[in-house]
Amino acid sequence: MPTDTTDQTIQNVVAAQKHLPGALLPILHGIQDALGYIPEQAVGTIAQALNLSRAEVHGVVTFYHHFRTEPQGRNVVQICRAEACQSMGAERLWAHACTQLGVDPEQASHGATTEDGSVTLKPVYCLGLCATSPALALNEKVHARVDADTFDRLVGTARSAA
Ligand code: FES
Repeated sequence: MPTDTTDQTIQNVVAAQKHLPGALLPILHGIQDALGYIPEQAVGTIAQALNLSRAEVHGVVTFYHHFRTEPQGRNVVQICRAEACQSMGAERLWAHACTQLGVDPEQASHGATTEDGSVTLKPVYCLGLCATSPALALNEKVHARVDADTFDRLVGTARSAA
């Protein structure tokens, strides 16, 4: 939920960067670094400051997969869906994860967060653990040979600690 502090952060980042050449991307990076995502309210502020349309700013935000328009969960799980992991059951693991977390698989393919905000699930395409697949990363720590039970244990522990 956006707050006055969020607004102030957006305005500070915009004010500090708007005079740079090609200011839009540095501003977007600055806001995501500060807030963890690009809130909808930032689009209007940026558009006004750079004399762009909201559609132009929104187009750039959605073009780059790096930018998020929703806050991430307190834990981030990335399940590898690349070929070697797929051949070792990654799609079953993915389906299990979506069911356990109560997130829509289609939505999760772009990143989806549980209702309680504790976990964001997203795909990744190779974690360098192909020989010990299927693999996932939980808060950037990689785990090999992950099955449904391992997933439940890892994510359950992380959720209870969050
Ligand atoms: S394909 Fe999954 S770790 Fe390489």
